[in-house]
Amino acid sequence: MSRTKIKDLLNATEFGKRVTVKGWVRTFRNNQFIAINDGSTLNNIQAVVDFTTTDEALLKRLTTGAAVSVTGELIESLGKGQRVEIKVNELEILGDSDAEKYPLQPKKHSLEFLREIAHLRFRTNTFNAVFKIRHALAFAIHKFFNDKGFVYMHTPIITGSDAEGAGEMFRVTTIDFDNVPRNDDGSVNYKEDFFGKSTNLTVSGQLEGELAAMAFGEVYTFGPTFRAENSNTTRHLAEFWMIEPEMAFYDIHDNMDLAEELLKYVIAYALENCSDELEFLKNRLLEEEKQKAQNERSELDLISKLNFCLENNFERITYTEAINILKSSKPNQKKQFKYLIDDWGADLQSEHERFLVEKHFKKPVILTNYPAAIKSFYMRRNEGDAEGKETVRAMDILFPGIGEIVGGSQREERLDVLQNRMEDLHIPVEEMDWYLDTRRFGSAPHSGFGLGFERLVLFVTGMTNIRDVIPFPRTPKNAEF
Ligand code: 4AD
Ligand code: MG
Repeated sequence: MSRTKIKDLLNATEFGKRVTVKGWVRTFRNNQFIAINDGSTLNNIQAVVDFTTTDEALLKRLTTGAAVSVTGELIESLGKGQRVEIKVNELEILGDSDAEKYPLQPKKHSLEFLREIAHLRFRTNTFNAVFKIRHALAFAIHKFFNDKGFVYMHTPIITGSDAEGAGEMFRVTTIDFDNVPRNDDGSVNYKEDFFGKSTNLTVSGQLEGELAAMAFGEVYTFGPTFRAENSNTTRHLAEFWMIEPEMAFYDIHDNMDLAEELLKYVIAYALENCSDELEFLKNRLLEEEKQKAQNERSELDLISKLNFCLENNFERITYTEAINILKSSKPNQKKQFKYLIDDWGADLQSEHERFLVEKHFKKPVILTNYPAAIKSFYMRRNEGDAEGKETVRAMDILFPGIGEIVGGSQREERLDVLQNRMEDLHIPVEEMDWYLDTRRFGSAPHSGFGLGFERLVLFVTGMTNIRDVIPFPRTPKNAEF
């Protein structure tokens, strides 16, 4: 079998060749023009059948969605809208698609509708573009780290520790719910469970990443993570992919530099390698924005937005500076925020993050030095906090339209400080002994961060709902497909 991909044929300059194309019918017009797509490009190839010599029953089977194989001569097209076309000699239907029943008709479908038929939405241009970009970004991430000598570390999906405190966990068990083994006091006896203890799906590979960083120097994970938080928003998934680099001998500034470099690298990679897809999504967005009032439309189109991100330094400010800006901001003064900012120490909500990024700075922002009380136990405590305010070397990167895209920190490398902090927070220190060993034997300053992959894909594609950038989204009350 020698099938040529449509992407290659559309760029071909040699005409008169005999070629075979396999793909799916997008449309069939005037009983002669078949638009075929094989997924290799957003663009279709036009195949022209001679209806005077083709069996009528066969022509009837050329319906939207049908899988076909056509063989014929590649010729220069006389029609408008395409450069090349195929003059069909042989036509074979590989798989019929009943026009009465096929849900994807050649017209505009809403994203909500397509979400319900996520098993078929790959076949639309929008999702072809989104998932090509998703692929390119994943590849670029691996390339970035590989080129720098980072080691890709596979941290476990099933974990026995629940210390990260990043979110609610999904329990992993083989216990028979109709016959639960119990201790004398009535509690569940996890010794009888598969692993002989209580286990969960991981919320983050960070803690294991730290162990590896203390030997390899620079490592990263890129895998699925799970959070059972009941947040039904356009930014949260119960199953999402996260990239977590962890680096020995990096302080918070090195950490920020790496994160900014990574984000710019992968955005530039997409601009360079997915220009057709980005162009398509840019136009799709412009079309969609026509429904909106002038003042609600984006100032920059998708491609300009991505370029803007590359050309400008991310704004780096401390939490304290952010609080001061927010306190005196218009929406705070006019009580338009749902959560008003009164005092230092308040946790920032997405409305505050978005104000800083979209209204105040109008560019990506890196926030550092958060109050210790609202951040994780493993973050490096700052010395000499002003006015007795305890802060940690955390850094969150906030993106326009997205909010938090990266969360990270320098890590607490001092055993006694870390242990005290864990005790204060009632984290079972004995169970975490393996983690503390890194601080017992050859501890060193180190840092890392987590980049939410779907939030990155959201930003680059300009899609607005996180459910539309992962093939089969898992959200509260939804695990279809
Ligand atoms: O800020 P988070 O919770 O940080 C951690 O898990 C650290 N252990 C990372 C590290 O330092 N190694 O999550 C990191 C990022 C967030 O900034 C966000 O982009 C994404 O993961 N994220 C989610 N994405 C989709 N759905 C959710 N429910 C998410 N929760 C976090
Ligand atoms: Mg976070």
